[in-house]
Amino acid sequence: MNKNIIVTGGAGYIGSHTVVELLAQGYKPIIIDNFCNSEKSVLKGLEDITGKRIDLFEGDCTDKNFMTNVFAKTKPVGVIHFAAFKAVGESVEKPLAYYQNNVVSLLVLLEVMKKQNCKRLVFSSSCTVYGTPKKLPVTEQSPTQKAISPYGNTKQIAEDIIKDQVVANTGLSAVALRYFNPIGAHPSALIGELPLGIPSNLVPFVTQTAAGLRNELTIFGNDYNTPDGTNVRDYIHVVDLAKAHVKTLDYLYGKSNFYDFINIGTGTGTSVLEIVKTFEKVSNQKLNYTIGNRRAGDVDQIYASVDKSKEVLNWKTELSVEDALKDSWNWQLNLSH
Ligand code: UD1
Repeated sequence: MNKNIIVTGGAGYIGSHTVVELLAQGYKPIIIDNFCNSEKSVLKGLEDITGKRIDLFEGDCTDKNFMTNVFAKTKPVGVIHFAAFKAVGESVEKPLAYYQNNVVSLLVLLEVMKKQNCKRLVFSSSCTVYGTPKKLPVTEQSPTQKAISPYGNTKQIAEDIIKDQVVANTGLSAVALRYFNPIGAHPSALIGELPLGIPSNLVPFVTQTAAGLRNELTIFGNDYNTPDGTNVRDYIHVVDLAKAHVKTLDYLYGKSNFYDFINIGTGTGTSVLEIVKTFEKVSNQKLNYTIGNRRAGDVDQIYASVDKSKEVLNWKTELSVEDALKDSWNWQLNLSH
């Protein structure tokens, strides 16, 4: 049986971990990546972990000829679409680049999927679509709010585009996974997050500070309406998140003209200070940190209701924040050597 799955952005952080889990479940992942925010060395890591050669097509998802050729050659039965820009701050400075890359790639992908009769799609969305939630935990019934950043807006627009394509009776079946905060790395320390330049996300900043690449971590505010005053997020191990994608592909089998969106988190909130303390414990390092001003756009607290993912996908997280921070640290140590 054909088990070919296109993984756009498959050399990226979440994409590469998903390639490992796809292979473990008998799928045949085929990576499409333009390496604009990832490294070729990821392929070596993937091959060392899985013992398999990974198919790769290097190119851009906004290039219709390229995408048509890849689909014609590989005849995929499904797509997991990760390829996108993801830096919130940068998106405010370069909105057109974000709309061009994140929205146009999806339009091209959906058109090529339709022409080539490929009917299953898993899309990377974000809890950012909920904005500042009124009630916690955030369920899928919680209203979405107008995005603050162009990045967040591209996720909302993309969800709408996919839904409209399903409503048009194209036979497409699709699920948008609304991720909370992915952290961690593969336990082998052979793949992990590779932020370009100064990281804007918390955990890479923490590990780089502990490794001596940054002087100190600034905690963005300790006067929020939360138990210890620092922001609360739902940090999910990237390996658990990767497994959720495979479960979603399985779930889409046999469905037609189907669209849904599902939260992917742990269901537990962790504060920035708790991340720092847990990191210190698992790494045996003292972390240099200071309390700074609030960062624009940060919500007080957000964490997921995981009832739907459990019920619909028969999936839940297996790894803890401690596991994730330990794996992130081992990955950082591996990178620094
Ligand atoms: C952000 C985006 C989210 C996106 C995700 C991945 C928003 C509201 N959310 O999540 O849509 O999918 O990034 O790119 O923009 N922090 C510090 N010091 C630092 C870095 C972070 O204190 O140096 C704090 C932040 O204030 C926040 C927490 O750590 O409370 C997590 O921040 P971050 O890793 O950037 O993720 P989010 O902002 O939650």
